[in-house]
Amino acid sequence: MIPKTMKAVVLTKPTQAENVRLHDVPVPQPRPGWVLVKVKAFGLNHSEQLLRLSEIQADYIQKPIIPGIECVGEIADPSDSSFQKGQKVAALMGGMGRSFTGSYAQYALLPASHVFPIETELSWAEMAAAPETYFTAWGSLFECLQLGKDDTLLVRGGTCALGYAAIRLAKALGCRVIATTHREQKLGLLKEADQAVPDTGKLAGSFSGVTKALELVGPKTLRDTLRCVEKGGIVCSTGILGGVYALNGFDPIKEIPNGVYLTGFFSNYPTQQTMEDIFSFLRSHQIKPNIGAVYPFEAISEALFDMDHHKTDGKIVVTM
Ligand SMILES: NC(=O)c1ccc[n+]([C@@H]2O[C@H](COP(=O)([O-])OP(=O)(O)OC[C@H]3O[C@@H](n4cnc5c(N)ncnc54)[C@H](OP(=O)(O)O)[C@@H]3O)[C@@H](O)[C@H]2O)c1
Repeated sequence: MIPKTMKAVVLTKPTQAENVRLHDVPVPQPRPGWVLVKVKAFGLNHSEQLLRLSEIQADYIQKPIIPGIECVGEIADPSDSSFQKGQKVAALMGGMGRSFTGSYAQYALLPASHVFPIETELSWAEMAAAPETYFTAWGSLFECLQLGKDDTLLVRGGTCALGYAAIRLAKALGCRVIATTHREQKLGLLKEADQAVPDTGKLAGSFSGVTKALELVGPKTLRDTLRCVEKGGIVCSTGILGGVYALNGFDPIKEIPNGVYLTGFFSNYPTQQTMEDIFSFLRSHQIKPNIGAVYPFEAISEALFDMDHHKTDGKIVVTM
């Protein structure tokens, strides 16, 4: 039985974590092309932090908005889709939590095109740590960097959920992995990599044999990362942890070394095939998605506070 009302986080303006509350709101009504998902768990993301603290002011954000760009759960109402009631699904991106209501709620009405049936033995919390983080790591490594087992991968900005996921996937494939952190005290958290390196901001010339680089610090260090890979190597700019979002005055002729390739990954376009490939890879390599901390939904404010204040390491998951 679907209730008439549900608990949800509803934002209208920039909101500090301490001020985030659960509100009673109507459960959304299914409509053609959209399915109602009973949310079982969801992961927190850096991009939701940006939305909550500042981006919410932008005209393109539908307000009031229930944030949350991903979730896992069960189909509560399949509407006119081919989904079955009770089917296990993951959903992510495509405007979720930005241009339509997201996952910080007991139910989410989502476009069927961004909801994916998933077969997995993982718990809800483990499953919730995967969709956005592993989809982004997977796309960056395999679609963009064309990673193979003989590659040496540099993960710049390794101590984030995405970094830990990328390291775990690349190691499972058999690559040599070098990972960096801007906090020396966090070097120990990169133990799954073959080499953990403190990031001084200038790493060019420190390595030999790096064939692929995943840039998670972003434009702040991109110029230097381009000089860390060998000729024929590829750099994928996926993160913006450094707080710089675009490069003014970037001179591709002089700043991309000859024979080095630059690409970027945007996680807005997940597909059923890729989601199946990811969960099947996790299963066959016996990988569990990394979890930093798990909070109950009632403690969402605390979970967001801990994310804002870097109190946890790795993916933060909220369970219902
Ligand atoms: N391109 C895409 O489609 C896409 C998709 C998903 C995520 N992303 C991006 O990928 C990055 C990682 O996302 P996430 O969700 O995995 O983040 P996250 O787990 O929330 O990571 C945030 C943590 O990264 C750490 N960090 C590591 N290196 C840093 C640095 N150089 N500067 C600042 N903080 C640093 C910070 O902790 P410490 O400072 O304590 O180390 C911070 O707590 C973010 O920039 C996110 O926006 C991009």
